Amino acid sequence: MVGLTQLCQQMALCQDCALAKTRNMVVPGEGLVSAEIMLIGEAPGFNEDKQGRPFVGQAGKFLGELLSSIGLTRQDVYIANVIKCRPPNNRDPLPPEISACEKWLDSQVELIAPKMIVTLGRYSMARYFDGQSIGKIHGTVKEDNDILYFAMYHPAAALHQPRLKQVILDDMRKIPGILAKHVVAKPDETERPEQLSMFKK
Ligand code: URA
Repeated sequence: MVGLTQLCQQMALCQDCALAKTRNMVVPGEGLVSAEIMLIGEAPGFNEDKQGRPFVGQAGKFLGELLSSIGLTRQDVYIANVIKCRPPNNRDPLPPEISACEKWLDSQVELIAPKMIVTLGRYSMARYFDGQSIGKIHGTVKEDNDILYFAMYHPAAALHQPRLKQVILDDMRKIPGILAKHVVAKPDETERPEQLSMFKK
């Protein structure tokens, strides 16, 4: 299997859907290769398409605040999107675009092997929580194949609906406890919650 750097280089050349014609830059994702938490958003927007980096606009600013509320920075996690190229005028991603990008996201998850995937918004949730509604399952966790999946509203939702800001902050604050409980619940694991590297500081 290729490494993450090579994978991102391959993504940068991708021509597998029509977004290759309208994008400015591919936005592969960024962060800690050995991250315990991987956050997955929807698609790059205007600023991300300009810079080739995920969550660098207003939603990204709030995402930074969310991470900081549990003592983390962007450098402690890995941040990616369901699709890697900006849909024109920030329209919703189309099914063929999502399908064309699936292989990239799956390879990223395989290489990073996070303990927890945090889905940000509907499109990311749909990828891992089939047929669910975000209003019902936000703030809940499920485990599958040794990965924890935690569903959250998209940070941009708080920009449009201010009442959701506290809901999103409250959901975020559940993450350290969920990770700690998960590690404790496995008697065969030598790792203990206080050893979860990212919360050591
Ligand atoms: N919204 C997303 O879902 N992803 C980004 O990278 C930026 C905004």
